[in-house]
Amino acid sequence: MHYDSVKNEHGLKHDPFKAIVAPRPIGWVSTVDENGVPNLAPYSFFNAVSDRPHYVMFVSSSRKDSLRNIEKNGEFTCSLSTWDTREGMNISSAPVPPGADEFSLAHLETAPSKFVTPPRVKLSPAAMECRHWKTVELPDVQPDSDSGHFMVIGQVVGIYIDEAFIKDGMVDTGAMRPLGRMGYMDYAVVTPETAFTLNRPVVDSDGSVSNPSATEWDGTYR
Ligand SMILES: Cc1cc2nc3c(=O)[nH]c(=O)nc-3n(C[C@H](O)[C@H](O)[C@H](O)COP(=O)(O)O)c2cc1C
Repeated sequence: MHYDSVKNEHGLKHDPFKAIVAPRPIGWVSTVDENGVPNLAPYSFFNAVSDRPHYVMFVSSSRKDSLRNIEKNGEFTCSLSTWDTREGMNISSAPVPPGADEFSLAHLETAPSKFVTPPRVKLSPAAMECRHWKTVELPDVQPDSDSGHFMVIGQVVGIYIDEAFIKDGMVDTGAMRPLGRMGYMDYAVVTPETAFTLNRPVVDSDGSVSNPSATEWDGTYR
């Protein structure tokens, strides 16, 4: 099939977009409201967008509590959602009213952040502490729609990593078992068994390209 995705005439049971932009990392976003009540929600329109400096973004489909809190006080954290935290992550997505504490709702302990006020999820093996830089409102398909899509971009000003997952000076991502969001109600999980290594191709002085076939890292971070 090959279709006009603006008209979105795919003819399938559901829009396939999120089933093919997959797996998407999940930013498990925490914020605090004006009364200091913590808020927690997963966002899979989420990614790292730059590493020097470190920036992340997530997209709020309509003006949700996370966005409102961030626009008020300019801070958020993104905890890593993992196989071990999957139930709590899911519960924290419940559409509860503003002012509800999803940490309590999901029976998740908080841990204090070092550089921002919102806490992180204690059970998560890694978290990023972020300062809001900008919100970009994406143009809507229907200009009169009041829902809107808001891309929140934040600079990462602090990173927490559980040292149990640092081996020989490197982060063992597979051992953290991070979740990826796919389409429909589906998820993927990265494990040590599904993670693999590819060394980057090398362009030789004669212009020929060699594709290193080693299955272990050759030690050069290209
Ligand atoms: C895995 C997962 C990913 C989600 N990704 C998004 C997303 O990218 N954008 C969005 O607006 N909502 C997303 N949601 C729904 C929000 O988590 C949900 O609307 C939540 O109640 C928002 O909370 P808040 O109002 O406290 O910010 C996702 C839910 C789940 C379970």
